[in-house]
Amino acid sequence: MEPVEQVKLRLERMLPEQRVAHSYGVADEAVRLAERYGADPEKAYYAGLCHDLCKNMPPEEQLQWIKRSGIILDNAFFHEPPIWHGFAAAQYIREEMDVQEEEILQAVRYHTTGRAGMHLLEKIVFVADLTEPGRAYPDVDTVRTLADRSLEQAIVYILRYTLGKLLVNGGAICRDCWAAYNQLVLERNSQAAEKGVME
Ligand SMILES: [Fe+2]
Ligand SMILES: [Fe+2]
Repeated sequence: MEPVEQVKLRLERMLPEQRVAHSYGVADEAVRLAERYGADPEKAYYAGLCHDLCKNMPPEEQLQWIKRSGIILDNAFFHEPPIWHGFAAAQYIREEMDVQEEEILQAVRYHTTGRAGMHLLEKIVFVADLTEPGRAYPDVDTVRTLADRSLEQAIVYILRYTLGKLLVNGGAICRDCWAAYNQLVLERNSQAAEKGVME
């Protein structure tokens, strides 16, 4: 696996200044969340640094990396270029930087879509992408508060917003995104039902 110092040089080469700053922000925020929720901070930092590496690659090049990964994706995925870069980056870092750690690869791959059954590091990078200190959007404080209470709650909140926007604008919604949403909502509902039974 390529050492962090080299990853940083790669970031500078591949991304504009603002996105480099965002990547450092996500890496630091991912470490904070990893310490809070008991994940490996080094893996969190590495995945945070790498998550947007392919964001400025031409879309055709991103598609090449996705094809090389051999992952089967649905039509909706291919109609939403903004979500490609996570999948492209996972394959890119596997081949170009010799990252073989599945946890890191998945955290990078699914940061744009989520998926059903995300593991802790995936949840952390997914959330850190939206709570890093440089982020400024109307709901950011709500998402930060939720992130400190429950990663799952923060993810559901984020997905409700992104899926809602896609629905309003008539966009296609990829399978992983729906699956992530359904799984977390069903899990939450069954936990609430269990709690109700015990009370
Ligand atoms: Fe991204
Ligand atoms: Fe990002």
